[in-house]
Amino acid sequence: MPLPVRKAVFPVAGLGTRSLPATKAIPKEMLPVVDKPLIQYAVEEAYAAGVREMIFVTGRHKRPIEDHFDMTFELEVALENAGKQDLLDVVRSVKPDDMECIYVRQPQALGLGHAVLCGQRLVGNEPFAVLLADDLMVGETPVLKQMVEQFADWRASILAVQEVPAEHTRRYGIVAGTQVNDLLLDVNRIVEKPAPEVAPSRLGVAGRYLLTPGVFHEIANQPRGVGGEIQLTDGIAGLLRREKVFAYRYEGKRYDCGSKEGFLQANVELALAHPQLGAGFREFLKGLPL
Ligand code: UTP
Repeated sequence: MPLPVRKAVFPVAGLGTRSLPATKAIPKEMLPVVDKPLIQYAVEEAYAAGVREMIFVTGRHKRPIEDHFDMTFELEVALENAGKQDLLDVVRSVKPDDMECIYVRQPQALGLGHAVLCGQRLVGNEPFAVLLADDLMVGETPVLKQMVEQFADWRASILAVQEVPAEHTRRYGIVAGTQVNDLLLDVNRIVEKPAPEVAPSRLGVAGRYLLTPGVFHEIANQPRGVGGEIQLTDGIAGLLRREKVFAYRYEGKRYDCGSKEGFLQANVELALAHPQLGAGFREFLKGLPL
């Protein structure tokens, strides 16, 4: 029996400055793509991969995330009384009964590594997933599920990667290593946001990780990295000196919804693919003077 990945950490304590002014009072993760907030896409992806314990690392102004996954008693009663069963189902499906949501605070936004470290006591000594909700992933098989399947074979940390344009290496953790097969790389180097001239490859880490608990010790022992932040990448660099770490070329598409362009692209493409809205939206777009 493969060891399932039961827990996922969602670091949602960042400031979202690239999305201002939208994120002045609303958490970035609550911005809706078509009809669902970003965080719900990430939670659904984790659930589809078999994860049932969702650990949110939150900060100030992140209450709407907790409210979103809480029961909304008045709303449910109102929908029930109005006989709107379909909408009641939509509301209730946000948090299936067998899913648990746990919240822990990151007191200060000291970086992604620090945010993940805040989840250490809740994760304990088992492998876990990390999902960055601002990376919206769309795949025929949900991307985290693909990674859990790989984990069952390799029992080692796995990072989702994609090829990025040379001029974008400064936006990513960049990995290098030896090819294991078409999809997997045995990582021997990872560097946070390198300049194109010094980047060891063009394989950038997207916002999905499966990590062994050894990473906590490594993060805790890192000095501040790029931008004065405690970087997850540096923790992973420490980990790969002790354990195998694989990079996995996922099948699917990623939208960087932490940038305004990526957020708009996600809205247009997901609206076009939406079962109820797609056809009408396509007609609307055709009528625009492009
Ligand atoms: P980003 O690099 O996108 O940072 O973080 P950000 O603060 O959210 O957004 P910008 O760059 O200011 O627009 C990647 C992920 O890590 C989380 C963020 O919430 C996001 O999901 N994060 C980052 C934390 O939880 N804590 C931190 O200290 C930093």
